[in-house]
Amino acid sequence: MAKRKPLNPAEDSGPPRMVIFGVQGSGKGTQAELIAKRYGVSHVSTGNIFRSEISKKTALGKRAMRFLASGKLVPDAVTNAMVGKYLKTAAARRRGFILDGYPRNHSQLKALERLGGVTHAIEIALPDREAVRRIGGRLNCVCGASYHVDHNPPRRRNICDSCGRALFVRNDDRPAPVRRRIRIYHRETAPLLSHYRRQGVLLRVDGRPAISVVFRSVVSRLRKTLGAKTRI
Ligand code: AP5
Repeated sequence: MAKRKPLNPAEDSGPPRMVIFGVQGSGKGTQAELIAKRYGVSHVSTGNIFRSEISKKTALGKRAMRFLASGKLVPDAVTNAMVGKYLKTAAARRRGFILDGYPRNHSQLKALERLGGVTHAIEIALPDREAVRRIGGRLNCVCGASYHVDHNPPRRRNICDSCGRALFVRNDDRPAPVRRRIRIYHRETAPLLSHYRRQGVLLRVDGRPAISVVFRSVVSRLRKTLGAKTRI
C-alpha cells in the first residue's frame, strides 16, 4: 500500500489562516495589523476584542475585566467560544484571518485544531528586556490601534490617527501584570511553537529592527509560501 503523505496545512488551497506569536511587547499586534491590511485577511486580536467588550461594559467584558487587569489569562471556555464565533464569520471564512493572541495554551491550540488549524504560524522573536522597554512607551486606542511614543508616534499627540479618539496606557502595562504576562508566555504559549514547527508552517522573524523592516521580513517569508500554496 502506498505510504500516505503527512498532512501539511501549508499545502491548503483555501484562504490563508495565520497565527502570530511573540512575547508581550514583541510587536505581534503591530505586525498583525499590517499583515491584515496587506493581505486583506481579518485581524482577530483576542486582547483587542476583550478590551472593546470591557469598554462597552458587555457581559463578556465584565467577565474578562479582572483577568486582563491582573495579566492573567481569561478562562479557556470563554476565550475558545469567542474565537470560534469570530472564525466562523463569513469574512474570516472567505478572506482568511490572522489570529493575534490566540492560541495561548494547549487547550486553546486543541480548540483551534478542531476549527481547522492554520496554514502559517509567524513568530516575532525579541528578547524580553527589549519587549518590556517597548511596552513602557506604548499608547493604545479602543479601536485596536497601538502606537509608541518614540518608534511609532500618532500624528497628533495622544490622538488616534485611525479614529480620532484619545489614546490611553493599558491597565495591564504596569510592571507587575507585564511580568506575569511574560511568565505565562514562556510557560504556556512558547511551547506551542514546536507544534507548528513539526507541521512545517512556522516562520521565525527577527523582531529587533524597526517596524517597517520587520514587516518587510514577514512579507518576504510569506511571499515564498502564500502565493504558491493558498488562494490570495
Ligand atoms: P493582548 O492584547 O493579546 O496582549 P499581549 O499578548 O500581552 O501582547 P501585547 O499587546 O502586550 O504585545 P504585542 O506583541 O502585541 O505588542 P505591540 O504590537 O503592541 O492580551 C491582553 C490580555 O487579554 C491578556 O493578558 C489576557 O488577560 C487576555 N487575553 C488575550 N488573549 C487571550 C487568550 N487567548 N486567552 C486568554 N486570555 C487572553 O508592540 C508593543 C509596543 O512596541 C507598541 O508601542 C509598538 O508601537 C512598539 N513596536 C512594535 N514593533 C516595534 C518595532 N519593531 N520597533 C520599535 N517599536 C515597536
